[in-house]
Amino acid sequence: MRLDKYLCDAGIGTRSQVKEIIRRKAVTVNGKTVTDAGLKIDAEKDIILYQGRQIAYTALVYYLLNKPAGVVSATRDPSDRTVLDLLSPTDYRDDIFPAGRLDKDTEGFLLLTNDGPLAHRLLTPKRHVDKTYEVHTESPVTEAQLRLLETGVDIGEDKPTAPASATLIAEQVLLLTIHEGKFHQVKRMLEAVGNRVTGLKRISFGGLELDETLLPGQYRALTESEVAILHEA
Ligand code: URA
Repeated sequence: MRLDKYLCDAGIGTRSQVKEIIRRKAVTVNGKTVTDAGLKIDAEKDIILYQGRQIAYTALVYYLLNKPAGVVSATRDPSDRTVLDLLSPTDYRDDIFPAGRLDKDTEGFLLLTNDGPLAHRLLTPKRHVDKTYEVHTESPVTEAQLRLLETGVDIGEDKPTAPASATLIAEQVLLLTIHEGKFHQVKRMLEAVGNRVTGLKRISFGGLELDETLLPGQYRALTESEVAILHEA
């Protein structure tokens, strides 16, 4: 494995950050300072130190799940199936968790990972990571409702929701991109404008689109470049 990938997987930083760390001579492999980020290392045998300390390496995993309705976004649940129950026994590890929550009846993009720092960065309200939902509504969406959703609505929090982007794609279907992640936010936003959600699917998250070849309940590993996009999100 390349040294820079090893350091990324160990949670030291993004690809560009670890390249810089290596360039600054902060990394040694078997006692020698290295400056080649592409150096091939053996994660089992080589002794790799960052700033003089041995790195605790756990391979990081990133799965894009097309969450089906009817399963809960939790690691365990006394009565319902969880999103982790959808992982095959070979992929399952007890350190994987869903990065964020979708309601039990919501479908679509859910990241399953064991990368705590990345999940934290993606979910912290300060970050404003974009999330786009396909929203099916009980009654036709009016122009006035769209404008209100875009401007911000009162959902009973301290402040109105932040500006969002709303595009009608059918009389009762809209694409709504929000940057916050308040509890039941989309449902509460639609209620606040006098409508109601009848179906909800997350179709993009942090710059990545839902892979439409995945049927509900299916998942795949993210590619390295997709993981890099999440790191930059
Ligand atoms: N907003 C909701 O209301 N539900 C979800 O599952 C996600 C966003």
